[in-house]
Amino acid sequence: MLTLGLTALGGYLLGSIPFGVVLTRAAGAGDVRSIGSGNIGATNVLRTGRKDLALATLLLDAGKGAAALLIARWLFDNEAVAVIAGGAAFLGHLFPVWLGFKGGKGVATFFGLIIAAAWPLGLMAGATWLIVAFALRYSSLAALMASAATPLYALLPLAALGLPAPAPILFLSVFTAVLIWIRHHENIGRLIKGTEPRIGSRSK
Ligand code: G3P
Repeated sequence: MLTLGLTALGGYLLGSIPFGVVLTRAAGAGDVRSIGSGNIGATNVLRTGRKDLALATLLLDAGKGAAALLIARWLFDNEAVAVIAGGAAFLGHLFPVWLGFKGGKGVATFFGLIIAAAWPLGLMAGATWLIVAFALRYSSLAALMASAATPLYALLPLAALGLPAPAPILFLSVFTAVLIWIRHHENIGRLIKGTEPRIGSRSK
């Protein structure tokens, strides 16, 4: 039990690293929390005009989720423990101790987690994001669709592709989807009103 608690704590602390804030500040691009939507994620970092920082934020936010899950899987060879560590990293991104528990919306970290948990699901979730994003140019809508679709993809018979035990992944995909939807409540309101900015737009 102590080991499980320490694993979750490690995942949480890793997920708590706010790469969007760290990178924009380090690069002299200001604090991402004071521009656009105020979110700390890659979409908002892109609104600084720095595509390189946005890409780095995307990769690092995804990477910390993947790393938490993969390290726990490597240490314990147990999919449930791996998913707990990954879920804790996701909570770390949403509620980072370093930012007074005011974090991001979790989309990049979700992708890192799902790819690490079960790459076929990660590919399908990523394809869903890309299709919606290219068709409609709303990052938030793409994230909402991809996260909502992933639990359904997890129900597909994918064992032949090497998908690990489905129950922990189903739990992880539902857990992350619910929190992503809650975190996007303002985006959902703007999408309904037609005021949500499209990808690449610098204004809110
Ligand atoms: O990945 C976050 C995205 O879905 C929404 O970001 O900054 O437009 O609220 P933002």
